Amino acid sequence: MKVEGKSYRSIWYDDKTEAVKIIDQRWLPHEFRIAILDTLQDFAIAITEMWVRGAPLIGATAAFGVAMEMRRDASDAALDRCRETLIETRPTAINLRWALDRCLDTLRSQPMEERAARSLELALLISDEDVEINRRIGVNGLDIIKKIAATKKEGEPVNILTHCNAGWIATVDWGTATSPMYQAHDLGIPIHVWVDETRPRNQGALTSWELGSHGISHQYIVDNAGGYLMQKGHVDLVIVGTDRTSAGGDVCNKIGTYLKALAARDNSIPFYVALPSPTIDWTITDGLAEIPIEERNENEVTHIMGKDSAGDLTQVLVSPVGTNGGNPAFDVTPRHLVTGLITEQGICEASPSGLAELFPEKARENSK
Ligand code: MRU
Repeated sequence: MKVEGKSYRSIWYDDKTEAVKIIDQRWLPHEFRIAILDTLQDFAIAITEMWVRGAPLIGATAAFGVAMEMRRDASDAALDRCRETLIETRPTAINLRWALDRCLDTLRSQPMEERAARSLELALLISDEDVEINRRIGVNGLDIIKKIAATKKEGEPVNILTHCNAGWIATVDWGTATSPMYQAHDLGIPIHVWVDETRPRNQGALTSWELGSHGISHQYIVDNAGGYLMQKGHVDLVIVGTDRTSAGGDVCNKIGTYLKALAARDNSIPFYVALPSPTIDWTITDGLAEIPIEERNENEVTHIMGKDSAGDLTQVLVSPVGTNGGNPAFDVTPRHLVTGLITEQGICEASPSGLAELFPEKARENSK
């Protein structure tokens, strides 16, 4: 996507300087900064401290981390070190494990002298695949928006609510939940997006930054406003992303997603999840029981960061001094609350058979 007229991905390999570069999301939406990641430790810090974030981008970042480490040391011990250093950086997003397994399994069977080149090819391939998967999610999700526009809106904007940031900077490009929005807007279908603030990390501000840069009408709302807007008929459709979806169709996404799904169900509003296939955890069926939920630092809740009137980024305390915060970062929306899963292969119901029909080989492999 474009930032001030220039096309970017959220992570890329700069051939000239032979370095991995990222958009450093700690500073957004206030400042656009690029950072270089070099050592394995750099990659681990960037993931843990959310310089990069969003399940698909976390996976791609891990793949580049392996590639940079292979340049220094391509031994089996280094492969083990990559896994140990990166696997625990974010526990919920399954793309991390998916990317590490894919890279490390492939590299182990390669001669040591070829591992540096092969690992970089793999990281680039994972990035390119992510872009194509998300583009296709957009094409499939576009049909839902088109149908609502044609049957309900008579030229008025289709109102879409989204939670967290499942946009292009949470992936390598396009985003998952935002890809149908970008494609609808580019085709001239009027849309308006309600962007949940998404406390405590306020990823909604990132979504607003993205949509604003692309000229898409949107409003940034507090997390508690969605139910009211749905009751008043101001939401036609909810689309969110996911950090891990069970083979049974239960969806784990940013904390608060479940409440939006409940409100959508109560108001008969379609609730869709944009799901790239690497985000499916084929090893589990019961999302609620089996997906580990990341607990983050309580300071993210008790403090908030923003720009002060002098234009400086400042962190302030919002709770009484000494109050303990609680910070579960994700929740699970059970499949019965999900209208459909928008994947690169098409849209299916959130159920074991729905996913198995779209991805028969994967489902077969894991049923053994
Ligand atoms: O904690 P974050 O910011 O990494 O969480 C991101 C989300 O929950 C996204 O909605 C999810 O990863 C889907 S991204 C395409």
